Amino acid sequence: MRAFFILVTLICLAESQHQALMDYLERRLLAIEDRISIWHEQTNRYATELREFKQQIVAQIETLEKDKETLKTDLDSMGTRVDRVEREMDYLETQNGAQPCVDVDDKLVEQQVTVVKEKNKAKYAKATDCSDMISSIKAMKILKRVGGPKGMWTKDAGSGSGKVYVFNGTEDDTIYEFGSIRDFTTSQGTSMAKTVKLPSPWRGSGHTIYNNHAYYLKQGKELRLIKYDLRNGSVVDSAVFPIRDHVPVYSLTPETVIDLATDEEGLWAIYATKETEKQISLAKMDANTLDIEQMWDTPCPRENAEAAFIICGTVYVVYNTAMPSRSRVQCVFDVSDMVTNDDAPLVYFPKRYSSHSSLNYNPLEQLIYAWDDGYQILYKLAMKKKLEV
Ligand SMILES: *[C@@H]1O[C@H](CO)[C@@H](O)[C@H](O)[C@H]1NC(C)=O
Ligand SMILES: *[C@@H]1O[C@H](CO)[C@@H](O)[C@H](O)[C@H]1NC(C)=O
Repeated sequence: MRAFFILVTLICLAESQHQALMDYLERRLLAIEDRISIWHEQTNRYATELREFKQQIVAQIETLEKDKETLKTDLDSMGTRVDRVEREMDYLETQNGAQPCVDVDDKLVEQQVTVVKEKNKAKYAKATDCSDMISSIKAMKILKRVGGPKGMWTKDAGSGSGKVYVFNGTEDDTIYEFGSIRDFTTSQGTSMAKTVKLPSPWRGSGHTIYNNHAYYLKQGKELRLIKYDLRNGSVVDSAVFPIRDHVPVYSLTPETVIDLATDEEGLWAIYATKETEKQISLAKMDANTLDIEQMWDTPCPRENAEAAFIICGTVYVVYNTAMPSRSRVQCVFDVSDMVTNDDAPLVYFPKRYSSHSSLNYNPLEQLIYAWDDGYQILYKLAMKKKLEV
């Protein structure tokens, strides 16, 4: 009986201790919850303040930019005209084989250096208000295998006609034109295509189709750009690309001397010369007249580069990586200075062959048309605004 009493007392004691422990834990939990909700409030407040601050800064930068723009517009148009005349003179000089004496030559070199430095400074007057940059690759699709290891395929990047064009090889004169992507994918080889025979063979894989015209580099001693009207089959314009001592623009795609590219802003030429041999240069072209509007030297090396494309005035250069089946965007250059190399997106392109022979951006669809070892591949891009970090 006594033992039973002791047992009951012990149990009661244990229960009251247990209750005390539970009460204690509950109080602690309530205190922690209180603190967490305070932290939440504080974090929210900081985030709001940070957002507001960022908005203020962006607005201030915008007004500053506008002021700068108005100041520079006049200077720019003058500068462009002077530049163009200068380049034409340069070109004529090389054609006529003029031999200036050594002193003058030295000065010329000095002048050219300053011209090159100032080349990058002139503010680019954008034709559109696009400000997109890549954030990632959303999807990839292998559509077909037609043609040899090297070539280029694309849709018309300007007109939205939906037609698909195939340039097989790096030296040919026959384009295959498909009525639509569906025709392209369902066609047995090129059986459903209309063939377009160009008046002269192309060179490399840097051509483009823009507003029902094919733009391509003609085979030959001089660098002649041809603008060919696909609707009535005639050459509507041609121009010598006025650079001296050109070198292949990408070291891994040696057939391509000039890579013509299109984006929201229009037509561009990506090229390289002996003068800036290690780096890639860029020119904005007038798609109507084939005039050069502005030129830049980019910091992007040619070495180990395989292809490039342009989005909203930003060049993305794609390089071979140590991993054999992947290439990567490793250098970007933005003509409006909003994207720097530090913002280069970590974008990989899977590949089969030693290098992509062409990558072409279509601004109407935000797709990249790639040619890899005879396979025609589409990459779907996810975009973000240039200002967002
Ligand atoms: C594509 O070009 C390769 C040579 O690069 C040639 O062997 C092949 O027959 C061509 N294919 C078509 C469909 O024109
Ligand atoms: C083809 O069309 C363009 C403009 O649409 C015109 O300038 C050119 O003269 C035409 N060429 C021929 C041969 O009809």
